[in-house]
Amino acid sequence: MNAVEKAFGGIRAVDRCSLDVAPKSITGLIGPNGAGKSTLFNIIAGLYRPDGGEIWFNGTQIDGLPPYDIVGLGLTKTWQIPHELRNLTVLENVVLAAKGNSGEHLLNLFFRPRAVKQDEKQWRLRAREILKLTQLDNLANEHARTLSGGQKKLLELSRALMSDPTLVLLDEPVAGVNPALTGSLMDLIERLRREGRTFFLIEHDMNVVMNRCDRVIVMHQGRKLAEGPPATVKTDPTVIESYLGG
Ligand SMILES: Nc1ncnc2c1ncn2[C@@H]1O[C@H](COP(=O)(O)OP(=O)(O)O)[C@@H](O)[C@H]1O
Ligand SMILES: [Mg+2]
Repeated sequence: MNAVEKAFGGIRAVDRCSLDVAPKSITGLIGPNGAGKSTLFNIIAGLYRPDGGEIWFNGTQIDGLPPYDIVGLGLTKTWQIPHELRNLTVLENVVLAAKGNSGEHLLNLFFRPRAVKQDEKQWRLRAREILKLTQLDNLANEHARTLSGGQKKLLELSRALMSDPTLVLLDEPVAGVNPALTGSLMDLIERLRREGRTFFLIEHDMNVVMNRCDRVIVMHQGRKLAEGPPATVKTDPTVIESYLGG
């Protein structure tokens, strides 16, 4: 992305930010509270339209595209499980993610009932496969609201995987997750990366950032302050001054 900007009133949340994420990497995005990290992710995912700048993904300019077109290109962000879905089962939540992704229209139910049924079957099969991968298969029939914090994060990732993304954005994937589940969630992310997916994640847990990311980008006051391998970034004097030391 190049010179991406977004202001809220007088606040320059993202200020001519330029950065790149290497394909098939696990790239961490760190920075103090209010640095603009979540805003940047929401811009990339199409939730906010940037005031300026360009964002490119696999040769396509995506800034200004609606979120579901961006998902269709293979770029997905994980979202908190919406309130209205918490009384549905884990499996239903994952299946519904596919419908949201494909932008299914009600009209199809009238004009293409057979096609919809066929899709439904395939989605359920795929959802089952994903739940095995994320180790939620034994909870498939439980209501989403009964899951622990860590299991909810796994469900968010499961929903994101339904669109078969090449790039996944994760905003604080292990916040509030116990150490054991953090370990298995990051193991899964490493495994998915080995299969060719790219992960770009905002994280405050320095263990995760230092041990699981290939590269780290430091954001400060809406801009990229530094980037490099974790060990290099950790010892960068400007980073220590603006963030780690603070
Ligand atoms: N929807 C919004 N409306 C107004 N201000 C916002 C909004 N979202 C974020 N901000 C402001 O933009 C700045 C960056 O916020 P954010 O992107 O959430 O930072 P981070 O995720 O790095 O903590 C903050 O000053 C925040 O208060
Ligand atoms: Mg944030």
